[in-house]
Amino acid sequence: MLMKIGKALTVVLVLLVLIQLIPGNDHQNPPVTGTPQWDSPRTAELFKRSCNDCHSNETVWPWYSNVAPISWLINYDVKEGRSKFNVSEWGRTGKNEGDEAAAEVRNGKMPPWFYLPPHPEAKLTPAEKDELVKGLVATFGDEDAEKEKKEESR
Ligand code: HEC
Repeated sequence: MLMKIGKALTVVLVLLVLIQLIPGNDHQNPPVTGTPQWDSPRTAELFKRSCNDCHSNETVWPWYSNVAPISWLINYDVKEGRSKFNVSEWGRTGKNEGDEAAAEVRNGKMPPWFYLPPHPEAKLTPAEKDELVKGLVATFGDEDAEKEKKEESR
């Protein structure tokens, strides 16, 4: 019995070492090509605390972002996050969904829950959340509110 557990653990360990050799952990922070005109430094500050790692090119890569398989998840999140909304490429052609940002914070979808335990500084108090939502609306507009207005005027 113990022998079997020992063997299984060895296999797991060997696999964990081997997957480190798979390429794809190159953490890139491409150049900043454009920045939004934040309505206030406070909005920029809250955004930096809570959103920057996945929605800018100024990602702070923690040590464990070099360790597979966590690194794969982190890479995926940053790639997806940047592709939808990236404040370091403001003004780029193509998708940049700033006008959805307020709604994502309002309904608690962003920042993602799994980001918070390793990033306690990203957790916003209800008052800070409120501040950020207002700041995002002022900076990027608010797609949700626009839709509601249209519905009402129908
Ligand atoms: C851990 C990485 C991470 C953090 C931190 C994060 N996001 Fe995201 N965000 C994502 C990913 C991945 C997606 C794309 C997939 C999805 O929509 O869930 C996304 C999508 C979005 C979108 C596009 C909406 C959509 O679903 O198409 C907006 C807007 C957004 N995030 C805003 C924010 C704001 C504002 C914050 C900070 C309060 C934030 N995010 C923090 C990873 C992150």
